[in-house]
Amino acid sequence: MADLTIPEGGFWPAPEIPQPNIYPMEWRVETEKLAAIYEKSKRVVWNPADLPWDGLNPDDFTREQRLGIMYWFAVLANFDASGPAVFARATIQAFEKHEEDPVRKCFFSITRDEMNHEECCQRTIAKLWPGGPLDWTPSDDLESAAHNNIGWLYHNGGRYWNGYNSAVGKYSLPVLFTSFMMGEMAASTLFRGMASGTQHPVFSEMFQRIGRDESRHLQICMTILENEWPGLTDDTRTLITRQLRAGFVFLSMILWEPPEGFWELPPYFLANHRVLMDHAREAGLGVLSYEEQAENWRVAMARIRAIVERWGIAFPAIPELDLEGVPVDFIDPEDIIPVF
Ligand SMILES: [Fe+2]
Ligand SMILES: [Fe+2]
Repeated sequence: MADLTIPEGGFWPAPEIPQPNIYPMEWRVETEKLAAIYEKSKRVVWNPADLPWDGLNPDDFTREQRLGIMYWFAVLANFDASGPAVFARATIQAFEKHEEDPVRKCFFSITRDEMNHEECCQRTIAKLWPGGPLDWTPSDDLESAAHNNIGWLYHNGGRYWNGYNSAVGKYSLPVLFTSFMMGEMAASTLFRGMASGTQHPVFSEMFQRIGRDESRHLQICMTILENEWPGLTDDTRTLITRQLRAGFVFLSMILWEPPEGFWELPPYFLANHRVLMDHAREAGLGVLSYEEQAENWRVAMARIRAIVERWGIAFPAIPELDLEGVPVDFIDPEDIIPVF
């Protein structure tokens, strides 16, 4: 074996690495519970390609129903298909800021799961409405209405993206995670409701599996917040109140109906949205009624209120659901932290 080379006067210290940077490498574990959730996430991983797709036959539906289902998944994709990119960026951020190892791994697992959820949108649409969401030519008024609404929806999706890219570096973990927590609460509520509402074997299994993933994401967010919340400042609390209102305004599009105050939509959007949602409902997708959706959303928001109020965070007023709180008026795209 060759001799070691030891310089005279000792080894030279490597230069300090400018931060933020993913280096130096380390695998610090501070929160065992997060490490355990990550282990669980690997064990329960599932493959959207293995859902019983042969049981999803376009001929079992009318054209209006197929369009309605495609429309619902196009709306869902505005949220779920942003998941991989949102959490991939959050994962990079967590590396650069040297969050403990289980935080980085949990973000990565959410990215993995969200990719599966996006694939469910993709596969369903490919099967029932080839070319959807937007790469097809409408042939009558109903189809034109669907195509046009989806275009407007994605216009709004596109408005928050730059905001998110700067927000992810600008906001502290508690702010980011309260928004993530709210999204996961919304998502787990939505899929639990849909799973109970659908009779179809493909959608039933899909929604149950996605719902389970979303509950795990919620658990991750809550565990991280329990670490972060004790150090909250009043400024952060105020910002979180605002973020909660922004989350409500944004997520209502898929959980219920879009409220005033953020969405840039043409005046006919909502009327046509209702017609298309009715077709999806009639097709047996499991879309709950307007009142059931409102009730589920109210219960989910009330749970979020109970959680944040424990930490001295004021809840925003949600007059749409008869929930009292601090008025937050204007929401701009920079306030939206997209999640699901
Ligand atoms: Fe998701
Ligand atoms: Fe999620």
